[in-house]
Amino acid sequence: MTGHPQHAVEHQHGDTAEYRAAEPSLSPVEHWEQRYSGLERIWSGKVNATLADVVGEFEPGTSIDLGCGEGGDVLWLAEHGWQARGLDISETAVGRGRAEAAERGLEQATFAATDLDAWQPEPDSVDLVTASFFQSEVALERREILRRAASAIRPGGHLVTISHAAPPSWADHPPAHLIERMIDVRTEAEQLARPVEDWAVEVAEERRRPAVSPDGAPGEHVDAVLVLRRR
Ligand SMILES: C[S@@+](CC[C@H](N)C(=O)[O-])C[C@H]1O[C@@H](n2cnc3c(N)ncnc32)[C@H](O)[C@@H]1O
Repeated sequence: MTGHPQHAVEHQHGDTAEYRAAEPSLSPVEHWEQRYSGLERIWSGKVNATLADVVGEFEPGTSIDLGCGEGGDVLWLAEHGWQARGLDISETAVGRGRAEAAERGLEQATFAATDLDAWQPEPDSVDLVTASFFQSEVALERREILRRAASAIRPGGHLVTISHAAPPSWADHPPAHLIERMIDVRTEAEQLARPVEDWAVEVAEERRRPAVSPDGAPGEHVDAVLVLRRR
């Protein structure tokens, strides 16, 4: 979701559903199931262009995508030689990823419905962990999940997070619950690159990305892009 103009316009993170306050009586799994099952498809199904830019330079190996949604990033990774696994709390979302992988004959793309708040990865087991827009309008222990995920990365491997750093440009009065979810990339780098001697911060920056508002006007997103390499 930079560098690929067509995709940048199509991938509509920051859509109207992300503005709404979540229904408080729903658990996270119910919330996300309801969101995915209410539409034929939420995201574009394409790779986030920033992810393709960053990961395109890495030697393929094994990867895990956290909050993979319908699997656009996982499918791209599999197409580019990775043994790519996608994890998401929504069975409907991972089912769409699985169906697309089968359709494209991508056996190296696998998916599992997983509540990452309760997930314990095997230490030193993967070469790459990715998390694109792993932000939720309902409860999500993002920092703790990313810390556990970092422990799963082998020496020489990478952690790549791409996140909303600000509400979209067309949000005049963004609600507090949306602002609270925005990611400060420098803070996230400090929180995740621990112990500091074990991690190199390769990228920790904000990137602007053209987008189209829900009513069709041109605008932009600001993405927080973090790339850590385990020494
Ligand atoms: C904004 S979407 C991003 C989807 C995808 N990465 C993309 O770029 O299109 C956030 C995703 O996080 C997932 N998610 C939220 N809480 C989760 C949890 N506790 N465990 C696993 N996935 C979760 C949601 O189901 C949703 O697919």
